[in-house]
Amino acid sequence: MKEINVAIIGCGGIASVHAERLMKIEGVRLKAFMDVDEKRAKSFSEKFGGQHYSNIDPLIKNEHIDALFVATPPFARGEEVKAIEKGIAVFFEKPVALTLSKAEEILNSIKRYSVINSVGYMWRYLDISSIAQEEVRKTVLLQWFLANT
Ligand SMILES: NC(=O)c1ccc[n+]([C@@H]2O[C@H](COP(=O)([O-])OP(=O)(O)OC[C@H]3O[C@@H](n4cnc5c(N)ncnc54)[C@H](O)[C@@H]3O)[C@@H](O)[C@H]2O)c1
Repeated sequence: MKEINVAIIGCGGIASVHAERLMKIEGVRLKAFMDVDEKRAKSFSEKFGGQHYSNIDPLIKNEHIDALFVATPPFARGEEVKAIEKGIAVFFEKPVALTLSKAEEILNSIKRYSVINSVGYMWRYLDISSIAQEEVRKTVLLQWFLANT
């Protein structure tokens, strides 16, 4: 089986949850970690293996990466477009960005380079979410009806 080489950018709380889980998937290799605080990236590479970086450019240049996990804070989004442009699959922690224009910039690059992509909206995929959404819709409609008829 081909190994999948994964890098993570943003080595904070949720990144460590992903790293722990990725470690348990057969065929996945944690190849590199990047954080503006290099100490954090280094502590991840010491724990999970792979290289550490404080900038995404050398990571993309030096490592053969199949997939990038983006676990930076929402205000720091945009750098991952450089990976998308190299055809690297991306998983984003929610939210994709803080502004619609930044999210559209990322979406456009995903469409242009046709990379596999996903966003970790964990509650959104539960059955209960669509039921709750429908109940909220009915309540809003009822309030509108009572206020306007
Ligand atoms: N799906 C979930 O259940 C869940 C849970 C927690 C957090 N999140 C999301 O994950 C993201 C990260 O949250 P967190 O709690 O892990 O934050 P955190 O503050 O613990 O970690 C963020 C890390 O990113 C680093 N960083 C900041 N700017 C950077 C940049 N430009 N490049 C590289 N690294 C940078 C910080 O130094 C820090 O180590 C947020 O978008 C948050 O909403 C999702």
